[in-house]
Amino acid sequence: LRSFAGFESDKKKAAGVPDFEPINACIVTVAQMDGSNLVTIDALASADRPTPVQSSMIKCHGSQCGFCTPGIVMALTGLVEKKLRSPEGQKNISHREAKNALTGNLCRCTGYQPILEAAAAIQISNCDSVNERFASKSQRRELRAAASRALALEDEGFKFFAPTSVRGAVKLMTENPKLRILGAATDLGVAHNKWRQRLTEVLSLHLIPELYEVKTVKNRVHVGARVTFSELRRATENVIPELAKFIDLFASPQIKNFATLVGNVANASPIGDTPPFLLVSAAVVETLGPKGPRSISIEDFFVGYRKTALRKGELITSISFAIPAKSDVLVLKKVSERKDLDISSVNAAINATWSDAKRGRLKTIRLAVGGVAATALRLRKTETYLEGKAPDAKILDEAIRIMHGEITPIGDLRGSAAFRHVLVENIVRRFFAEFRL
Ligand code: FES
Repeated sequence: LRSFAGFESDKKKAAGVPDFEPINACIVTVAQMDGSNLVTIDALASADRPTPVQSSMIKCHGSQCGFCTPGIVMALTGLVEKKLRSPEGQKNISHREAKNALTGNLCRCTGYQPILEAAAAIQISNCDSVNERFASKSQRRELRAAASRALALEDEGFKFFAPTSVRGAVKLMTENPKLRILGAATDLGVAHNKWRQRLTEVLSLHLIPELYEVKTVKNRVHVGARVTFSELRRATENVIPELAKFIDLFASPQIKNFATLVGNVANASPIGDTPPFLLVSAAVVETLGPKGPRSISIEDFFVGYRKTALRKGELITSISFAIPAKSDVLVLKKVSERKDLDISSVNAAINATWSDAKRGRLKTIRLAVGGVAATALRLRKTETYLEGKAPDAKILDEAIRIMHGEITPIGDLRGSAAFRHVLVENIVRRFFAEFRL
């Protein structure tokens, strides 16, 4: 469990979010934890007395070999912490809450039923808050001071920088052209740990206050580079419920408590989860580089397979996107082999408005798909064909024919090219089957 003592923590407190949230220890670097208070499994039991979460796991036979147990206990402890802060009172853990909290925790021998039973049996009113147990005022002051100081580490061919301003970050990137920006490290951390692609020059943006800002201005949401998916979900769940539902699908809470929208875009994966949504939401990428700031339309941002329009020394400071109008129907889809926590075979976003209340004739439609070309794509020809038409079976067939001509998927372990064609076709057909009145 991590609690960052800087500005991020203040925002959480104002929103009634617990300070301590679970993150994955296996991919974040120790240096990125500068300014954070960390609580691991070793600290939980006091004087050999297990916590109610640990006792419940024992009583309900939630552990066998024990390999997964520390992670499961920490994930449940994070959930308990959230519930202790909940304005709805401290109800015990529901099946759904437990499943969501444990989406990132795999167990190969116990089976999940006893673990879910252990979660449901925890008496929240008997639990102590991690915040009260482990965050003293003096320690907080110390960590806050640490979070306000820039960090530079150099050792045996390894460099790590964490500046406290965006300009400082740009300067470092200009002076050290090989620097890689490390966010939640969901790709770079795995490449480093598993594929031996050693990270030797790393820049972390976690000490820069302005990058934690998420705000709505004139029907657009502006999301700073260090705004996590958990934060983004909280900030948009009332105005874009479809986005909140989609965020629920694509990563574990541990990842979403550290990973960012900007990281997902900067990564430029053709199957990234958010680019299709951003493509139908008029998103704009704000950057700062040695020559000053730029605003880049998301449609011009992806220029090739894992290639972006970013110039040397330039970094993304924020991304903004439009909130759908009341008359818009927004649908976000992700098709993957596993329901949770998996890379998609195909993903898609559709935003449509009809000319009339009965949804006969389409006024506008925006269609975007991922996993079917070198970058996520807007299906412009299909959109142009459909706009202004009442899509009956014949029109829809023609739209689908045009759509197939716009995508060029390849086959890989997540599906053949033909399978991906069928997936996109089904998503479009289903949209019209569901949403035409
Ligand atoms: Fe063995 Fe979960 S108890 S992997």
